[in-house]
Amino acid sequence: MCREISTRIDDIQGVYVVGGAVRDLILDRKPDDVDISVVGNAAAFSELLAVRLGANAPTTSQFLTYRIELASGPIDIVTARSESYATPAALPDVAPSSIVDDLKRRDFTVNAMGISLLATNWGNLVDPANGFGDIMRKRIRVLHDASFVDDPTRMYRAVRYAARLGFSLEPHTHELLAQSLGNVERVSGARLRHEFELILAEPTRVEVLRMAEEFGLLGAISPGLRIGTKALEILGRTSPENIEDMLAVVTFGLNAGEADQVAVRFDGPAAWNESITGGPRLASLVSVLDQEKLQRSEVADILSPIPLPAIRAYIAVGPPLPRRNRMIAYMDKIRFEKPEITGDDLIAAGIPESPVIGKLIELVKRAKLDGQVHSREEELKLAKSRLPGFLIAPKQ
Ligand code: CTP
Repeated sequence: MCREISTRIDDIQGVYVVGGAVRDLILDRKPDDVDISVVGNAAAFSELLAVRLGANAPTTSQFLTYRIELASGPIDIVTARSESYATPAALPDVAPSSIVDDLKRRDFTVNAMGISLLATNWGNLVDPANGFGDIMRKRIRVLHDASFVDDPTRMYRAVRYAARLGFSLEPHTHELLAQSLGNVERVSGARLRHEFELILAEPTRVEVLRMAEEFGLLGAISPGLRIGTKALEILGRTSPENIEDMLAVVTFGLNAGEADQVAVRFDGPAAWNESITGGPRLASLVSVLDQEKLQRSEVADILSPIPLPAIRAYIAVGPPLPRRNRMIAYMDKIRFEKPEITGDDLIAAGIPESPVIGKLIELVKRAKLDGQVHSREEELKLAKSRLPGFLIAPKQ
């Protein structure tokens, strides 16, 4: 295999670290991952590198793209390419090309630099769009005027990088962004969702969302999508793994119509839809929770159909009315409480197996929540005493 590879090494004309890793190196930040661009035979280079690193053979996914998995993270290797967009916001057509073309197809100048890894010109910086200068000026700048039209997701990337690096948008880039907001509607739900996930995963997500709102990028997803100050504050504290909770906070305060629109636009899995639409569902029920006389079983009745992220968001962001304490009680205690007895205990006590068993257990559960039974014996006694009522339940 190695001999076979070495015969193909002549096909490798250039090897460059590209993109975020170069930007981060210049900024003295630790890169998250390493992207390598190969001019020529990227397959041969990937195989050789995998052998040298003692890694498994590279996997290949898209067009002439390879990945080597290492314990420290993946190395992605692409064949240097040019890209053209047949229609705006579609995926690009690609063809193998030079390193300069490969860098020029990218989103921002700060991401459009490469550092050579070949011994012949080791360490040379290739910077066709003066990304280095933009890093020094702390600005995010597109490489060409059609960048946001070709790929509207780049507008979200722009604010993500600006917030992360403490940069601002270069004025012309800012202008282009404002002119390109209408193109967001052409982006698929899946791609928008991906951008949103990346935003929420950023340690600086609060600043990203603040900028996204200011620049109209939230409204471009769905006109009703906006985010309040309290929600932003909470988002700064929520754990990034918990995307459903973050979504519920981001969409807190939307009315039912707005939330439905946002959910349709993201076109996400059930968990996304529930987090987004759970808020207005809860808001429509919640005033009952302020009533002074309310049994714990009634609290459970109201809150059990509501997705948990929506309740957590309400507790975090909502007004400090009595309802909030009831929600806290539900989240911390009520929802976990269940009778000591089970259906098997009722069967063992001589009650025939039937749907009545489930109804009796539910009845006992409510009684326990409301403090009417305090022991296993009392639970059994209650179930048995109520059995006749279920057996001759009046027709409704
Ligand atoms: N890219 C692009 N347009 C996109 C997505 C990515 O031009 N819509 C280019 C950028 O040049 C970027 C490279 O592809 O540098 C790799 O993308 P990605 O892995 O998302 O970003 P990184 O540069 O690795 O930056 P980071 O992971 O730090 O965000």
